[in-house]
Amino acid sequence: MYDFLYELEHKWFKDQVYLEGVILVQINDNANPNKIAVIYNSKSGFTQKYARWIAKAVQADLLIGKKTKAEDLLHYDTIVFGGGLYAGGINGLKLITKNYSNLKDKKIAVFCLGATPVRDEIVEEVRNKNLNVQQQESIQFFMLRGGFNYETLTPFDKILMNLLKLKLKRKKVLTADERGMLRSYTHPVDFTNEKNIEPIIKYINE
Ligand SMILES: Cc1cc2nc3c(=O)[nH]c(=O)nc-3n(C[C@H](O)[C@H](O)[C@H](O)COP(=O)(O)O)c2cc1C
Repeated sequence: MYDFLYELEHKWFKDQVYLEGVILVQINDNANPNKIAVIYNSKSGFTQKYARWIAKAVQADLLIGKKTKAEDLLHYDTIVFGGGLYAGGINGLKLITKNYSNLKDKKIAVFCLGATPVRDEIVEEVRNKNLNVQQQESIQFFMLRGGFNYETLTPFDKILMNLLKLKLKRKKVLTADERGMLRSYTHPVDFTNEKNIEPIIKYINE
């Protein structure tokens, strides 16, 4: 039964079939006895990096969110979803929130990352915007710091970010974060660090 799409990183799987650059992997419960899935959406690679680190650390299946259907998730006991922040929303999180009633008995963790530094008030704001009260009770939420690389953005995202740049440039007084943001348009930043996944790994293994 070849019914899931995985990434090239899945070296621990025995049965692999190459298909147009992705591997179609046979479900092999011996290779993933804990039935853990790490699902991610990533526009410029920052979330992908964290998702790969997490999947490797816990021997999980790594799935691309945009290619994953809700029913694919029913196979797993633990679901870890990751996505970048775009105007405060977590990229592709609807896969989990829209199907929450079918997934709510599973162990679920959501992580997101943005260009901004991680602070308690920002974590709270993002959590409240993306998960309702019931979801917040059962979904463990994590925020990590990603990065920003203007050159890798889609034309549409470049337009959006240029609008933000104009807005920032019109401001008389900029905060340190805003100055950092403006500088990152010409100097890409990458704050990803494998150590940051430790609380997520701890939660998965609890
Ligand atoms: C159009 C746009 C909107 C963004 N909005 C936010 C935001 O609201 N908060 C934030 O911290 N970062 C924001 N970012 C930065 C991304 O979240 C950051 O680059 C992240 O690391 C992207 O991860 P990804 O490449 O895995 O998608 C935005 C970036 C773009 C291009």
